[in-house]
Amino acid sequence: MPRLALVAALFASYAAPVRGQCNGSPALCERGYGTVSFVGTHNSYAVGSEDNLAVNQGHDVTQQLNDGVRMLQVQAHTKGTTIQLCHTSCDLLDGGSLLDYLRKVKTWMDANPQEVVSMLIVNIRNQPPTAFSSIFTQAGLADLAYTPVAPSVAVADWPTLGSMIESGKRLVIFMDNQAQYDVVSWIIDEFSNMWETGFNIVDPTLFNCQVNRTSGDPSTQLALINHFLNQVVVSFPAPFPERANVTNAATGEGSLGAEVGVCGEVIGRAPNFMLVDFYEYGGGSVFEVAASANGVTYNPTTPIAQPGGSSGGSTNGAGGTGTRDSAAASVFVPGSWMVSSLVLGGLGAALL
Ligand SMILES: *[C@@H]1O[C@H](CO)[C@@H](O)[C@H](O)[C@H]1NC(C)=O
Ligand SMILES: *[C@@H]1O[C@H](CO)[C@@H](O)[C@H](O)[C@H]1NC(C)=O
Repeated sequence: MPRLALVAALFASYAAPVRGQCNGSPALCERGYGTVSFVGTHNSYAVGSEDNLAVNQGHDVTQQLNDGVRMLQVQAHTKGTTIQLCHTSCDLLDGGSLLDYLRKVKTWMDANPQEVVSMLIVNIRNQPPTAFSSIFTQAGLADLAYTPVAPSVAVADWPTLGSMIESGKRLVIFMDNQAQYDVVSWIIDEFSNMWETGFNIVDPTLFNCQVNRTSGDPSTQLALINHFLNQVVVSFPAPFPERANVTNAATGEGSLGAEVGVCGEVIGRAPNFMLVDFYEYGGGSVFEVAASANGVTYNPTTPIAQPGGSSGGSTNGAGGTGTRDSAAASVFVPGSWMVSSLVLGGLGAALL
């Protein structure tokens, strides 16, 4: 055997992940990060009762990760000097500090060393990358953050999941604006690496796989689909949990599975990230769609969390009492996102 081949063989076995499992499957270890599909939670911190129209998820980030979510999208606001995870405004939904959220992610990642996780920060207050890096460091997550070789990486050039797990650099952090490679190289600029489909879809027949936002060449970028359906409530878009089982389904009109199929036709592959609301609706269908896109079997050892029961996470989670429709009609004031103080009794005083 030529010496070089022997060395290569030794190196290959050395580089193999410890337990031969990558995101739940040995088959994914050799796959490039850019060739894998991950289920993501839209506003992953916006957890609580479905009666609150600013809520997008029924279970907190730890449960999301336990169930198989591997892309966590957050909207970062500021509250005093703190970076706070809020939806539209911290008066409407306050999901707690970024630090507290990241500590949960850190605990989970430490307990699950064979998993690659991604995050997408919507930096709505245009904070500098150092405002975020210090919090990741405080949470103990900076050591797990993956640093790309360049500010933008072609979809085919991302490392394999196996090598990311082996190196321990298995948290991939994207941010939609203000990323600066020369300042914090592991907070990765979203739109020079990834494109997104449109969001705020209110007609399920309009889910497509068309590029809506990017600042690069979509043909060489990661792809993210926003597969959550909104409903219009008193002229404002709001999540639609009553239809989430259909929206999240593996088949059918307006389903996640159907949109991934359209991506196959339009871009010739499955999207990398699939952001959904109330991921638990469909009884695991979103994970089945991802497994099918990845060519692996979805074979959970335990059932995923049930719809309806919030497992905590949001400071506002326990509020809503009345029916969703009556809450909707009273909370939103046409013409603005203002919250009427008269109707907040049912949603909890914490909203103001
Ligand atoms: C992106 O989607 C929004 C609606 O969500 C639409 O108004 C806008 O025209 C779209 N832009 C592109 C470039 O497709
Ligand atoms: C969604 O849930 C409704 C109400 O429980 C049910 O009638 C319908 O069959 C479900 N659809 C799917 C695709 O699971």
